[in-house]
Amino acid sequence: MNVIIFGPPGAGKGTQSSFLVEKKKMFQLSTGDLLRNELKSKSKLSEKLKKIMDSGKLVSDDIINSLIEKKISDSSIKSSIIFDGFPRNIEQAKSLDTMLKKYEQKISVVINLVVDNSILVKRISGRISCSVCKKPFNEFFDPPGDPAECTTAACIDRELIKRSDDNENTVSNRLRTYEESTLPLLEYYKLKGVVKNVDAMKSINEVTSQINCIFNDL
Ligand code: AP5
Repeated sequence: MNVIIFGPPGAGKGTQSSFLVEKKKMFQLSTGDLLRNELKSKSKLSEKLKKIMDSGKLVSDDIINSLIEKKISDSSIKSSIIFDGFPRNIEQAKSLDTMLKKYEQKISVVINLVVDNSILVKRISGRISCSVCKKPFNEFFDPPGDPAECTTAACIDRELIKRSDDNENTVSNRLRTYEESTLPLLEYYKLKGVVKNVDAMKSINEVTSQINCIFNDL
């Protein structure tokens, strides 16, 4: 089963995806993480990507679609993908449809994390993640605790990292980009009858329970 986890920046897409990876043995395909990995290469492309990401705008569809096709064509993760942060506009959604058809797959559900904008800036400005396992935490809502209780034994040497695009200026641009380009996609998937809403204003555990219920009903 393939799933899209949908919602604005800071809604909890990455947080909930990591639970699905752990509990349902699914594969998290986060375009944001793929792009951040690309940034580490310090290539010409990475300089260009960093500028776009720090401005809160979207990276070009060509780059994103080629990253995605590499994964959809991988038979070892066939029909067990969580799409996190993709698609982000109608063009990407149409490309995804074409790729899914080509590799004989489909989207079973779009989990729509519904959150008020008022809470998003606080969630994003408080976000930190483990440098080893990448697990997201939050200084205000989900403090990281003892490194010995993180995900792996190697996390004992972790650093807690902040993203360069998690600042107030970029966040408001990211929210604007979401409203202009990504939110209209919800209608596209509603017409396909696959959208399930989740109240993502609730605590992390309560959001996970709602998602579990959706999975149980599929
Ligand atoms: P990306 O990395 O995808 O960022 P995003 O969509 O802005 O989403 P976030 O990662 O900020 O939020 P999230 O919903 O995953 O929240 P999280 O679980 O971490 O994209 C970054 C950039 O890359 C884009 O701006 C763009 O430039 C580019 N890009 C990426 N994909 C692209 C694409 N397809 N096309 C073009 N460009 C693309 O949670 C946030 C915080 O809140 C955490 O600290 C967490 O602990 C906390 N939290 C989570 N849930 C709760 C809860 N229920 N209660 C309290 N706290 C909570």
